[in-house]
This record gives sequence, C-alpha cells and structure tokens, in this order.
Amino acid sequence: MKTNPSYSNLVAQWQLPSPIQQVSLPSSLWGALTHLWIKRDDLIHPIISGNKARKLLHELPRVEESAACGVMSMGGNYSNFLHALAYAAQQLECKAVGIIRGPEPKAWGATLKDLKAFNMECRFVNREAFKQMRTQADYAAELASKENLLWIPEGGSTEAAIEGVIESVGELSIEPDYIFVALGTGTTALGIAQGVRLRSWNTQVIAVAPLKGAQQIEESIAAKASQCGFSVPSNLTIEHRFCGKGFGRIEPDLIERMSHYQTCLGIPLEPVYAVKTLDALSFYGINQLIPNRAEVLYWHTGGIQGARSINSG
Ligand SMILES: Cc1ncc(COP(=O)(O)O)c(C=O)c1O
Repeated sequence: MKTNPSYSNLVAQWQLPSPIQQVSLPSSLWGALTHLWIKRDDLIHPIISGNKARKLLHELPRVEESAACGVMSMGGNYSNFLHALAYAAQQLECKAVGIIRGPEPKAWGATLKDLKAFNMECRFVNREAFKQMRTQADYAAELASKENLLWIPEGGSTEAAIEGVIESVGELSIEPDYIFVALGTGTTALGIAQGVRLRSWNTQVIAVAPLKGAQQIEESIAAKASQCGFSVPSNLTIEHRFCGKGFGRIEPDLIERMSHYQTCLGIPLEPVYAVKTLDALSFYGINQLIPNRAEVLYWHTGGIQGARSINSG
C-alpha cells in the first residue's frame, strides 16, 4: 500500500491529550464519592472516539507500512470498533471489510448504515463461522491476507493497540487511587494497568465486564500481556458483578440509569459499556469500598454512536 499523508491529517484532528475534568457528586447518591475525575477520551474525535482512538493510533501506521491494500476486522451489528475503523479506512483511502455476526438484520441499524456509508464492505457470517474467526487468529489472518488485507482482531485487540493505551496514562496529571474503566476484550484495561505500573503508581484499576460469564477473560488478558512481554499487573481487578442481564441487553431500567448518570456527570454516555461501569463505581461509593477522600477517575471510552441503537435498532 502506498504511504499516505492522510494518517497525519487524520490524527491531527484528534484532541490529544484528551481533557480531564472533575465533577462534584451529591453524597446522597454516590456515598463516599464526593467528586470524580473523568478522562474525556470521548472528546478525542466525534467518530474515532475513546479507546478506539487509542487503539488505532499505532495500528493505522501498521496498515500504511504493510503491503496490504486495506483492513479486515470483525464485530457485532453495533460494534464501536468497526465504526471507528471503517471511518479511519475511508479517510486513509484504503479498503475495509467488516465480518459481522449474522444473520443480516432486515432493517439495518444506525451503526451498520454508517459502516456502509464509510465504504466498509459488510459480510454477515453465521455464529459458527464468526466464532472460528474469533478463536483462530491465524485462520482469520490467512483469510484476510488472501485478499491482501491486514487482519485486525475483534475490538482492535493488538499489541499496537495496547501500546496506544499504555501511552495514554502518561497524559494524567493526577495520580488517581482508583481508575474505573469498561471491559470488552480487556485491551484497554490491561493497557491502563500497565501504564499505571510504568509510572510506579499504586492506582487500582477496576475493569467492569458488561458480559455475563466473562470469566475466561482473565486468561485472555494474561495471554495478551504475555504477547506484549509483560505480566498482568497486580493492580488490575476484573469486576464481574455488574453485567446485569447480559451484553447488549438494553432494558428500560438501564436507560433510566444512563440518563441519571448523564445528568449527574454532565457527559454523554452509551448504554452497553458505560452504564455498567458507572453502576460499579456508584456501588463502590455507596458501600464505602472506596476510602473517603480517595481520588477516583472514570475513564470514558467513548462509543457514543452506540447510544443510537436505543432508538434505531
Ligand atoms: C465504549 C466502549 N468501552 C469499552 C470497550 C471495551 O474495550 P476493550 O475491548 O479494550 O476492553 C469497548 C469495546 O471496544 C467500547 O466500545
């Protein structure tokens, strides 16, 4: 693939370092938590927001340096990562193929429509085929390379992505006692915990799983860390208690909590990851699992486009 100045142009539009802001909280609602820091990665870019920007920062140059003519990745109908990748590929003028967990919905939701508008070719595959690509990285990479495409695993979980997240901790001007962050593949949480370790901080990183039965995630995080040449930092805790009814289940009470958090914090949120992370955070506050006067930071991972799924299906 030809080297393309579009990468520099694209990244030049990102707000880096992202802002950090402090909000005051009513103790009647948040217990021991009277104020909260928020790392506003959602403000990095309107489309490539949150951890997607962190992940793509070093991944995109890899695409440009490779001989590939584009990228292939995978995700669900509402995938925030595919959404960001499709837009980035369009800006870099390279091909993008999205393997989507099928079947193809009769009416495409807002995310899928955007993927198409960004010129991503959407290929719907059945659950078995999807699982095979998810679990057999070499197989997926081979399929991509047959089409001269670079394979990027689901959720953009690569070493380059972890490097981008590790670096982001360098932007923090305060040393938090706790960082709360949403967990999917674990790439973001692992990168933050490693970034904290590299700063020799004692910060506890609480990663909140939105998926029921995500116990195997610990193994997969350990494998990722070892690929990157380090061990899982001992300051990283995975919280499994806040997955609710399961991944992507948008029940009315979840929407109510989302609007409550949005009002309290004055920030936009999405229902799949952020609400459960904030459920955990408020639980820690109310039940005094966080000492008084602790500095607590919520790392906003963006993905606000996903909130459109509430209305658009
Ligand atoms: C908004 C949001 N938060 C958190 C995550 C989880 O990130 P990770 O897969 O790095 O654990 C995702 C998934 O990409 C996401 O879209």
